[in-house]
Parts: sequence; structure tokens; C-alpha cells
Amino acid sequence: MKFEKLKNTAEKEIKLVEDLNGLQDFSKKYLGKQGELTQILRSLKDLPKRERIMVGKDANELKNFLVSIYEEKEAQLKEKGIKAAQEKEWIDVTAPGEKIAIGTLHPLTLARRKVEEIFKSMGFEVVEGPDIETEWYNFDALNIPKDHPARDAWDTFYLKNGFLLRTHTSPVQVRYMEKNKPPFRIIVPGNVYRHEATDPSHEFQLQQVEGLMVGEDISAASLKAVVGEFFVRFFDKNVEFRFRPDFFPFTEPSFDISITCLVCGGKGCSVCKESGWLEVAGAGMVHQNVFKSAGLIRKDGKKWQGWAFGFGLERLVMLKHKINDIRMFRSGDIRFLKQF
Ligand code: DAH
Repeated sequence: MKFEKLKNTAEKEIKLVEDLNGLQDFSKKYLGKQGELTQILRSLKDLPKRERIMVGKDANELKNFLVSIYEEKEAQLKEKGIKAAQEKEWIDVTAPGEKIAIGTLHPLTLARRKVEEIFKSMGFEVVEGPDIETEWYNFDALNIPKDHPARDAWDTFYLKNGFLLRTHTSPVQVRYMEKNKPPFRIIVPGNVYRHEATDPSHEFQLQQVEGLMVGEDISAASLKAVVGEFFVRFFDKNVEFRFRPDFFPFTEPSFDISITCLVCGGKGCSVCKESGWLEVAGAGMVHQNVFKSAGLIRKDGKKWQGWAFGFGLERLVMLKHKINDIRMFRSGDIRFLKQF
């Protein structure tokens, strides 16, 4: 009787067990050291022999029964656990992946690469020079003497011990000519620095592209041809351009090179200050003093001839893409950068 009751309550109770914790409680209650069955088994020794055999047999059967419903429940719960985990952790291999934002090249990098490609195809070598320069290369060697008012045209960041941040790429002309004999044609892309307040058309760090072509018989005609070809290929269309007299200490004669305003098509607008033209470069025939600074002297007593130019890269990109504020380039604004 006692066994029958125990068996029934155990059977009812195990049905209510919902998790492994509950199962452990069940096992403790019925099969554990202090469990009900163990108590019975322990008291067997006090019974007379005949009774002991009978009760012992029933107790064993009960024990087997309890163990079997325990194991059955345990298997069920484990199965349920695996299913739940699978339900929670499944991966939909057909779901579309998440798009990872990838960067784009900076518009100035793209422009610089395009400029290099165009000039390389015309036989120019791409040369670089240091951003930190000496006063000699940045000024003196370029025929801009100390205390000469022309030096004021370049607002300069001076460093210690006669060094400075180069204000233009022109010093690389001298550096290159010290080591190379004409004929040659090079372009020099690179950063330049100006001690200036910033506004929509001024920055304190810019990129320039210097050009230099030197030989025995180099005239301004080839300058015009090269520059014209460059414009067509950079802007992907025919742009009108003009040379006008200008002054630079390192060229004689000197020109400013302007193109028709790409914003208004030459009619006149606020960008070109109603003139229809925009200045994009300085240029000229290399001054003999610059050859002299580089130690480039012909043995036959004749003179080397060559031309040079200096483009502002930002200016070119602004015209090409109709960007009205030069500060956008270094603003780090992703919305701006993503358009290129
Ligand atoms: N270096 C000049 C500047 O930064 C630009 C320039 C003018 C470069 C005339 C040249 C040149 O090579 O011939 O303002």
C-alpha cells in the first residue's frame, strides 16, 4: 500500500517537472540519500526475514520504476533543450548579407592620379620633393633674394634653423636639375603650405602640380601645346584658355594661364567675378638664374632653354566639379567625399 501511494505521487509529480532543476529536486526527494525510497530500504533490516524478502522485492520494483521515469523525463527535457537552442540560434543562410560601408578615394587623390596619367602619356616623369624645405631651395635658388618684396607673395610657415614648409612645388625644379642633365620633362605633384587665413577660396595646405621641360631648343609653343592637351583630357572637353603676361621671379617672361569659366561658360558670373575667365596656373620660360642655381651650365657656351608651370590642384577639381568652397576638401565631411 505504502509503495502504491508513493508510486502514484511520484508519477504525478514527474509530469509536472518542466526543467532539469525540477528533475533534480525530484531525484533528491525520491532517490536521494534522504529520499523516501532510501528511508524504506534502510528500515528493511529491522523487519522479520519473511517480510523483509517481500518488502525488499516491492521496494526494488519501485526503485526501478522511479529510475525509469526519471530517465525518461531526463531524455525528454534534453531533447526539448536542444530544440529550443536550435530555435534560438538558427542561421538563415539565404538572408542577404549586411552591406559594409567601404571608403572611396579622396577627390584630390583621384585628380592627382588623373593628372599623373595624362602627363606620363606625354612622356613626363613624375618626381617628388620634401615638404620641409630650406630657404635656399624655396626662395634664393629660385631668384627670390632675401629682403626682396617678391618674397612677401608667399606667406610662409617658418620652422627652426632656416627650415620652412615649402610654399610651392617650384623648389623641386632646382633639386631635380642639380642631379639630372637635360633634355627632360617632369611633373612634381605635392603639398604646399601657406600662412593664410582660410575662406572659401583660401587654404593653408594645398596641392600643386609643377611642370618643367628643359632642352636645347624648348619654346613657349610646346608649353601651350602641352597645357592645351592637358586641359582637354582633364576636363573631358574642349576648354578655351589664354596666356597673359605676369611676373614670377623664376621665369622670364612669365604668364598666367586662365581658362573660360566652366560655371558660366564665359558669360560672366560671381565665380569668375564677371570676367568669364579663371586663373588656374602660373608659368613661364625658366629664368637663367634658376639654371645657374642648379649648376646647369652648357659647355658650348649656349643657354639651356625650358619652361615651367605650377597648377593648383584644388582649383582644377573645384572647376571640374563646381565646388564652391575649397575648405570642403579637408573638412572630412563624408557626404561630400562620397560623391566622387
Ligand atoms: N610657384 C608659383 C606659385 O606657387 C607657381 C608657378 C608660377 C610655378 C610660374 C611655375 C612657374 O613653375 O613657372 O605661385
